[in-house]
Amino acid sequence: MTLRTGIVGCGGISKSHATAHANLENVDLVAMCDINRDALNNRADEYGVSKRYTDYAEMFAREALDLVSVCTHAPLHAPIAIAAAQAGIHVLSEKPLSVDLETADQMLAACREAGVHLAVSHQFRFTPLFRRAKALIDEGKIGELRSIREVGKGREAGFELMEMGVHYFDEMDFFLDGVSWIQAHITYQGHDVAEADIMHSSELCKTDRRDNGIVAGDTMLVHIGGAQGAYGIMELYCREPRHGWMMGPHLLGSEGQLMIKPNPDTGIDEMWYCPFDVSFAAHTPAWERIELDASAFFISGKAWHSRHTIWSAKNMRDAILNGNQPELGGRNALTSLECVSATYASHFSGQKVQLPLKERSHPLAKRLNTGAKTG
Ligand SMILES: NC(=O)c1ccc[n+]([C@@H]2O[C@H](COP(=O)([O-])OP(=O)(O)OC[C@H]3O[C@@H](n4cnc5c(N)ncnc54)[C@H](O)[C@@H]3O)[C@@H](O)[C@H]2O)c1
Repeated sequence: MTLRTGIVGCGGISKSHATAHANLENVDLVAMCDINRDALNNRADEYGVSKRYTDYAEMFAREALDLVSVCTHAPLHAPIAIAAAQAGIHVLSEKPLSVDLETADQMLAACREAGVHLAVSHQFRFTPLFRRAKALIDEGKIGELRSIREVGKGREAGFELMEMGVHYFDEMDFFLDGVSWIQAHITYQGHDVAEADIMHSSELCKTDRRDNGIVAGDTMLVHIGGAQGAYGIMELYCREPRHGWMMGPHLLGSEGQLMIKPNPDTGIDEMWYCPFDVSFAAHTPAWERIELDASAFFISGKAWHSRHTIWSAKNMRDAILNGNQPELGGRNALTSLECVSATYASHFSGQKVQLPLKERSHPLAKRLNTGAKTG
């Protein structure tokens, strides 16, 4: 069986989805949609896609798609996913899954009701280096895993939480075998975030066009409690330049460390190992690079280094063809967004917040009426 696939939203990340669909076996990229005709035509020309739409409902009604990639900004993920589900189409949504848990729950309910999959595209965990790092940790290569550290790319924390933060929550969920709780502290311009600091993402971060709904804070420290007792630490703060190559886990164990980071010169992920539990300025054993057999990176005869969408798209394709849940499907699709809500809920309550959350409305939305700016 060959899956007929489409893409809604032909901006930046759609290139990665289109490349994935165009290169996966048993997948045929047949249609694209964008309200911006130039963006639509540019991307469709690039991939030789003739069916072009400016209305996703029309594309869903006409194209008998099996799978759609939702590549718009976050507030549109829910309405598009729900419309796709109602047309019987499996959904691979870009992250963040949505802007709040209420709408994310509606996406999941619509997909369940229609008998289609909903998965979120956190591609990091599917890559060969992340898979190998997890296997090495499970084999005891760094002793007992103690903690994972991640740092944002340098954008304002409330914005970054919805960009890199959700990816980091997903990788913590992956390495920690599940997230149990979150404890967070958030500041804005040097003071603790209060109701008046809640604003739209475009007001907080003026250097990035993406709409991430309502957010708060320019600096965050998030403590993530793993299901097995190890934990994660995520630090999001502003800095220049905004290095992409900072992203990637630093994993500390009782007998060693692992790090996966893009090489700053090539942009390609590398995994490094150090046989010592902490680093000193001097006398720390040298870090060694762990390289994988080149064949590990091959899909459809090509090598896919780093964190390309093809890794999450492949997991979705296999799930559809084999009749399984995708790894980030069902309730797992919600985990990273649960962590976002838990981050704000923890800051405002001053408490450690257990997952999954009972309260599904946005923790910032209900505080907007108390004098906050709306952007
Ligand atoms: N997984 C990753 O690593 C990764 C990387 C980058 C971006 N993203 C995510 O992908 C999403 C899109 O980001 P981007 O950088 O591609 O944004 P973008 O602004 O480049 O593209 C969004 C596109 O959606 C189109 N659009 C808006 N409304 C539409 C509608 N009703 N119907 C169809 N198209 C519509 C816009 O015209 C635009 O072309 C965001 O949620 C972002 O967080 C994920």
